[in-house]
Amino acid sequence: MKNILVCVAWPYANGPLHLGHMAGCYLPPDIFARYHRLKGNKVLMVSGSDMHGTPITVTAQQEGKTPEEVAMHYHAINSKSIEEMGISFDLFSHTHTKEHFESARWILDTLDKAGYIEPRVSEEPYDPVAKQFLPDRYVEGICPHCEYESARGDQCDNCGKTLDSKELKNPRSKLNPDAEIEFRETEHLFFKLSEFRDTLLEWLSSGKEHWRPSVINFTRNWLQEGLIDRPITRDLEWGIDIQREGYEKKRMYVWFEAVMGYYSASLHWAKNQGEPDLWKDWWENDEAEHYYFMAKDNIPFHTIIWPAMLSGCGLHLPHDVPANEYLLLDSTQFSKSRRHAVWIPDYLDRYDPELLRYYLASIMPEQKDANFTWEDYVTRINNELIGNYGNLMHRVISFAHKNFPEGLSSNESTLPSLNDKVKEVHERVQEALEACKFKRALQAIMELSQAGNIELNEVAPWKQVKEDRDACEATLVTFLNLCRSLSVLMTPFLPKSSQKAWEYLNQEGKIDDAGWNSALEFKAEFKLQQPLPLFSKLNMEEILEKEMPPEEENELANVKPEITFDDFKKLDIRIGTVEKVQAHPNADKLWLLDVNFGGPTRRIVTGLRGIYESEDLLGKRIAVLVNLAPAKFRGEESNGMLLAAEGNDVVSLLQPDKEIEDGSEVH
Ligand code: MF3
Ligand code: ZN
Repeated sequence: MKNILVCVAWPYANGPLHLGHMAGCYLPPDIFARYHRLKGNKVLMVSGSDMHGTPITVTAQQEGKTPEEVAMHYHAINSKSIEEMGISFDLFSHTHTKEHFESARWILDTLDKAGYIEPRVSEEPYDPVAKQFLPDRYVEGICPHCEYESARGDQCDNCGKTLDSKELKNPRSKLNPDAEIEFRETEHLFFKLSEFRDTLLEWLSSGKEHWRPSVINFTRNWLQEGLIDRPITRDLEWGIDIQREGYEKKRMYVWFEAVMGYYSASLHWAKNQGEPDLWKDWWENDEAEHYYFMAKDNIPFHTIIWPAMLSGCGLHLPHDVPANEYLLLDSTQFSKSRRHAVWIPDYLDRYDPELLRYYLASIMPEQKDANFTWEDYVTRINNELIGNYGNLMHRVISFAHKNFPEGLSSNESTLPSLNDKVKEVHERVQEALEACKFKRALQAIMELSQAGNIELNEVAPWKQVKEDRDACEATLVTFLNLCRSLSVLMTPFLPKSSQKAWEYLNQEGKIDDAGWNSALEFKAEFKLQQPLPLFSKLNMEEILEKEMPPEEENELANVKPEITFDDFKKLDIRIGTVEKVQAHPNADKLWLLDVNFGGPTRRIVTGLRGIYESEDLLGKRIAVLVNLAPAKFRGEESNGMLLAAEGNDVVSLLQPDKEIEDGSEVH
């Protein structure tokens, strides 16, 4: 038996949860925790609302409420969403509790005593109009690493790097966009993160083969670049106060204390159990395994900063940090500010949480971003969950109940090959779940169910029942055992419908207590309950009509859908010189350009004839997309596309504004 701590990123209590949160953050650890509980391991799963810092105060200002009101309001809403989605936290707390304050002070104190905390005077952005410092989200500017326009004072949402406000280029105050930001001296406590570089590099270099490559690479690159000491207090009124002279108006940096929630919530849970030492089974036990679930923007806090803090306090380090990529909505990132999201409370008002669990698990963004669309949701639910799994379960149980209301029995399976398949899939699912490969685990279960459907059609008990009732009974016992195994395997994914199936099969107790290996048992007797279908089919038209907002609601109708940086990187744009301009032999709107990119020239067909004269093009330095598949225009092959801007009837070529060699790349 293992002791497993399942740590789940703490959502900011500044808005409702959306599908992206569910797919990336909450569903994966729930599947994981449910599996390990079934397996008989000792699981503690904790999280809570992240209540402090500028994410909350900025929202409070926007909504005209106090930070506490905002935080408590969304904490209530999000706790309810989490519960209704069946996310089985042992404790979903929040950071504005007495218990969390106590743990946070203890950790700060411990780090301080160990010499890792130091007051330093630094220059921080100050808004002279608002007459206040501008911590974190109060200041935005250009990211020094990736040039993203709207990087925040402490983190860039685009490249994921953590920042100091000082590093932002062109900083602007969120409070007064026109204010001239000053940098003023202020004292803060600093965490000597730089001292942990070697420890962390060493930690990463052994026994991390099970980590996702994206997570380990990101972390290693970061460590190799070196670590900077970070201020861990802020000039702010909302948050955990610092008991130190001169710090009356300062609070702990929200990220510094939020990560401590994993620890404080473990203690808090134990206290709630009436056994205040119980947390030690996970925290003072070398064999315990700590897993941290989150989306990729949270990686550095969980693979560098928190492990540094843990190691500074002599606490247990993470065993795995299986961070996910993003779930996109119609190919664009979920965004609270742009209201581009499907909110969990809205979803739950209309549809079944189990259907969402299935759909999100089937497209889980484990390796790459995944895309949510309502069409795909309906299609997968109807074709896969219902067409395959639900169909098998209902066909078997209802047919058996109808024809053998008095019960069925048979001493052995009539289809040993199906038994072997159950064994094989059981093992594959187990392996996948333990490695946090949830999509793969679900696929294996669906494969088993599909194999069951095929066999069932082959054996056709509805024919057998007329010819040989005993043989039919034996067949049905075989398939009822398959249904029983499937419902156990499905429990981590679909807890409620698995429990229902368990009841129709008239199995004793709760399926949660049946044990993972009970999927391998063979039951010789069944006395069934009258079943209802586990799921009901969705109506595509109805749902699309309800869920797709009319076009004109989109304020930015002219802006093309967002793409990711990886999409952009696919474009190879180069600077070249136009060496020759000829008329297309049989198209009067086209020029043939020969462009030099520092090698042999390239032929490009362009529609600029009639807009640019040939002598205006000759010798010009232009920007060309060169990795476009060649295309023929009236018989002439074009090997690229030149870039020009178009607006109020003017077409204007893009040109470099300095001397630069041919073939230079445009980024
Ligand atoms: N509130 C953060 C977010 O939503 C996550 C905090 S995770 C914690 O991105 F561990 F720091 F709590
Ligand atoms: Zn960046």
